[in-house]
Amino acid sequence: MIGNNAPVWFGGDYNPEQWPEEVWADDVRLMQRAGVTIATVGVFSWAKLEPRDGEFDFAWLDRVIDGLHAGGVKVDLATATASPPPWLSAAHPEILPVTAEGVRLGVGSRQQYSPSSQVYRQYATRFVRALAERYGAHPAIAAWHINNEYGCHVAQSFDDESAAAFRVWLEARYGSIEALNHAWGTAFWSQHYARFSEVEPPRAMPSFPNPTQVLDFHRFSSDALLECYRAELAVLREVTPDIPVTTNFMGFFKPVDYWTWAKEVDFVSDDSYPDPADPLSPAFAAMTRDLMRSLRGGQPWMLMEQTTGAVNWRTRNAPKLPGENRLYSMQSIARGADGILYFQWRQSVAGAEKFHAAMVPHAGEDTRIFREVTALGAELSTMGDVVGSRVASSVAIVFDWDSWNALEQAASPAQLVYLDEIMSWHWSLRALGVTVDFVEPGASVDGYSLVIAPALFAVPRSALETLAAVPARGGQLIVGYQTGILDENLHVQQGGYLGPLQAALGVRVEEFAPLAGPDLRGTGTAPVPTTAIRFGDTVRAASVWTELLHADDAEVLATFTEGLAEGSPAITRRSASGPASGSDAPDAAGGTAWYVATRPDTATVYELLLDALGRAGIRPLLDGKNPDVEVVERAGTRWVLNFGRAEATVTVGEDTVTIAAHDLVRLPVA
Ligand code: GAL
Repeated sequence: MIGNNAPVWFGGDYNPEQWPEEVWADDVRLMQRAGVTIATVGVFSWAKLEPRDGEFDFAWLDRVIDGLHAGGVKVDLATATASPPPWLSAAHPEILPVTAEGVRLGVGSRQQYSPSSQVYRQYATRFVRALAERYGAHPAIAAWHINNEYGCHVAQSFDDESAAAFRVWLEARYGSIEALNHAWGTAFWSQHYARFSEVEPPRAMPSFPNPTQVLDFHRFSSDALLECYRAELAVLREVTPDIPVTTNFMGFFKPVDYWTWAKEVDFVSDDSYPDPADPLSPAFAAMTRDLMRSLRGGQPWMLMEQTTGAVNWRTRNAPKLPGENRLYSMQSIARGADGILYFQWRQSVAGAEKFHAAMVPHAGEDTRIFREVTALGAELSTMGDVVGSRVASSVAIVFDWDSWNALEQAASPAQLVYLDEIMSWHWSLRALGVTVDFVEPGASVDGYSLVIAPALFAVPRSALETLAAVPARGGQLIVGYQTGILDENLHVQQGGYLGPLQAALGVRVEEFAPLAGPDLRGTGTAPVPTTAIRFGDTVRAASVWTELLHADDAEVLATFTEGLAEGSPAITRRSASGPASGSDAPDAAGGTAWYVATRPDTATVYELLLDALGRAGIRPLLDGKNPDVEVVERAGTRWVLNFGRAEATVTVGEDTVTIAAHDLVRLPVA
């Protein structure tokens, strides 16, 4: 990732401009005490480094970087373009972003630029060139950190320049206005366009917007941010071709398609703020780490930001309890990270984030937080053997940004929550101690013996064909409801729902019957409606979804017992070798395809997964009984983590271990 024979990187965002210079020497002293090896410098320094148009003041940053270097701390140098200085928007108010309702956003916060603003990009790249020329040869610089969390606050802008850029993007995508009309289905509601100049971004409008227009504006906006990144990258490649480059991602972040972005960074880095008050946080964090590892095909990644304690941006901000900071850090290492960094080094005394925890809290070094930081730094410094090593997985979940966007659009059957659909599978696999990779739709899945496609709602037909080939080559395939419904233009799949998966699964979907309730999207106030399925001799609970399904060429494993779908198959299985034999005998050599038309209860999901894993030749390391515990293998070690607030005794493969609350054990891989 960064450098050869490097240790596990340890450090955080360092914002020395918030402090008088006499604090800087103390910072370096404390960094050395804490075992800090790298500091991310300059993320929000543009206004201090270019205080007036074209006037650069690098002298103070020279002293900061020289001081870190003398103290043995490397620098991840930010390009500082995430928060343009006030003089820039005062001179060029047109760079300020505009909301869908037409509100131009103001100065006094951060990220106040329209991604399509050419003026912003010119000023940003001029600044980056000056920065790169100044520091490109400095021995402390280990990496470039372009901008910060692209799209975090302003993922889309509806200003006129963005509208013009959107038209250019559409023309490049479709070639002709008739192709756009076809893709967008503009015969509906009299939306036909005569020329590109008539097309607008999906600004606030009277009723449901055109769904494909909305999706294209999402795609365009992700690409517009990527153009900002690329403009800075081009300067850095020219001036400092040997310094690796990253930009910090935000886990499962809907507006930006990280499959596309990850191809353009030298290593993936991620910012991660699991809510310590949410019992699902460890499982969600695990899923996020797996995505980060998968974005560049298993390459080690960097945890660029996390917090030592509480954040300040939730309504009520629970702190990480003793041990949790270490545990989330080790979870990242186990799931492929080579670096553990924080926002931020020293807790601010002014500004909007003064109540956000840091490595050095307001209360100073004689604190539990600084002691935990120091202990972690010492521990990570002994773990150089993990650096560069890969995490192996034979199970893949297909993850798709377009499906996420399309599934959650208005005017759809139930506005399912895409991440819930993904997590319902990942959660169970994690609890069974099975490591999962994510894959992009259409990418080769030949290396995986079990592939799962939950709610893969809107993908090109070819992506469904890739999945249909899995059972045919002897692999195991599980397909969840709301897969293969639309194509990449959000038209219903040709040949009906599931498209080419129909034959592989041996089923046909006739009609959706989602389980509705007053609060299906879940604000936490109303229970999710449930239904029942008959599975063998037992009746099990299921939730979220039912549908009328026909299993023309598949074995029916479970049947809906009530509602419109009563009597209709709920879970089916088909052997690739031919029509279902009715035999339950696992056939490790044969391919199998399951279709799951509901969200079954956990016990049923486990049974289904154990059947699929068994056929795939994958042995789960845990029994699923304690979802507070997870296990991952990396670098010859089984990392067994207990996120529970109580001691846990679990059997991991052949070993039975007892792990204290918020603690971990490391076992050699058997
Ligand atoms: C991130 C951001 C940091 C800081 C942090 C607080 O989104 O990159 O600058 O604001 O959140 O949690």
